[in-house]
Order: sequence, then structure tokens, then C-alpha cells
Amino acid sequence: MVASSSSYGLAARVARKLGWRLVIAEEKKFPDGEAYVKLPSKVGGYVIVVHSIAPPQDTNFLKLLILIDAVKGAGADEVIVVVPYLAYARQDKRFLEGEPVSVGVVLKSVESVGADAFITVDVHSPKSLDEWLSIPHANAMPIPELASYFKLLMKDGVVLAPDKGAVERARIAAGILRVEYDYLEKFRDRVTGEVKITPKSVDVKGRPVLIVDDIISTGGTITLASKTVLEQGAKEVYVACTHALLVSGALDKIYGSGVKEVVATDTVPSPISKICVAPAIIRALKEMGYK
Ligand code: R5P
Repeated sequence: MVASSSSYGLAARVARKLGWRLVIAEEKKFPDGEAYVKLPSKVGGYVIVVHSIAPPQDTNFLKLLILIDAVKGAGADEVIVVVPYLAYARQDKRFLEGEPVSVGVVLKSVESVGADAFITVDVHSPKSLDEWLSIPHANAMPIPELASYFKLLMKDGVVLAPDKGAVERARIAAGILRVEYDYLEKFRDRVTGEVKITPKSVDVKGRPVLIVDDIISTGGTITLASKTVLEQGAKEVYVACTHALLVSGALDKIYGSGVKEVVATDTVPSPISKICVAPAIIRALKEMGYK
């Protein structure tokens, strides 16, 4: 298994659980700013590369591509690329005329430099993988681990997705917690980026609510969702998210809106990354036939 600086800790946990050797890629930056990676030893057979396209996304995207090439060059027969956080996944269509489909560019690039299989974690829209990859691929879901964290707090509660597109996560979490689920209706102005949420017909009065989402960036979506359900009489609000990008001030905003606790995974390291996605990645590897 090969890891880079963007995913050392997570890769170490996956390697330990699988009993695999972990090779850490050497990295440096040339004086002009270009990235450089080098494997310290030869590799062989099938190699798992773990590298999140976490912030700074553009640099980490390029590093991923050259790392895959380095692994191929160092002797790997097959490269399984694990990208815990897939940046650009939200730009999955041309929302406005003249825009790119950025997720397609990222996925096609990964495949074209030599990935033989691809795993990501809780991608914004799973159909992007089918649409843009011709190699075997999987979307590892850490929702069971995230939901279980709140098990003791969610008796007779409601799991909510902040929008209809995210309802599958809420459904899985609700199944684990054995509670009801629903979604809030969200509208995002594609030009100004402003988000408005209108309440859906969920009965949250007097009940604990767990809001589940894939990404927290500015915290705007979760803040609005939590304010909405608290106004509707929710007893308390908890938040689970997979990728904690946490743009400056996001956590203050979220806690300021009345949320009791917010928890994320370690696809992007952050102060709230309490849940490790190693078990979800290992499930996906096994489902794809890698032992
Ligand atoms: C959007 O569709 C995603 O699922 C998230 O809800 C969104 O990216 C969160 O962004 P922010 O924290 O900036 O509202």
C-alpha cells in the first residue's frame, strides 16, 4: 500500500487492518512551486494507493496523478486508487452554460494515468462514477459508523437529509438507528451561491434530529437546516457528515445555530473527524474481490 501526506493516518489504519506493508511516498516542492513525489522502494503485484484530494485540492489532484504514475513506474502490476475525498464531485453537470463537468475531468484523468480500479468514499453523486469511469469502481459508505455514533441519543428521533438528493444517506442511517427519516427542500442560487431551505412535512416536534450530509464546507446548509428544525420544535439537533472541509468559521456558525454535536469522518482531517473510514474502505475492497 502506498500513501502520501494527504492520507498518511488513514492509509496506516487500512494497512494495519489488512496486514499490508505501507510505503510512504517522499514529497517535495521544487523552488518554482511544482510538486514532486518519489517512492522510496520498488513495489509489485497489486498496489493500493490512498490519497485524498483534500484542500489544497488542485495541488493534491496533481499529486495524485503523478503518484499513480510513480507507482506504475516502480513495478506495480495493478493499481487500486483509493481517494477518500473526491474534490470537484459537486460540479457533476453543466449547471450554467459554459461550465465544465469537473468531476468527469478528475475521474477521466485518474483512469488515463493508469488506475486499474477506483474507490472513493461517499461521493456526492454515485452515478458520476458509472458515468466517467470504465474501470471497476466503488463508493464506500461510512454511514453505518457515523449513525452508530449517535445511537444512544436518537431514541424516537428523526434522521434528516438537507435535500432530496442526500436522502439515501438519511435512509441508511435511519435503518441503523431504527427511526424515521425525511429530507428538507433546499434551493441554491447557482449564481450567488445563496441557499434557502423550506420546511418539508416532517414531524420533528419534541424529537431529537440527526442531520446527515456528505460535505460541510461553509456550514451554511447545516446552519439553515438546524435553524429550520429547531424552529419546528426539534428537541435537539445533531449533525453527521462525511467530508469536513470546514471553511473558516463553519463550526462556529453550526454550533451557533443550536447544534449539540457535529461529527465527521477522517477523509479530510479536521477537529471533528472522529470516525475512521478504514472499515468502509475495507468493505469496498472486499466487495470488489481484493483481499
Ligand atoms: C451540496 O449539495 C452538498 O451536499 C452539501 O450540502 C454542501 O456542499 C454543503 O456546503 P456548505 O457547508 O457550504 O453549505
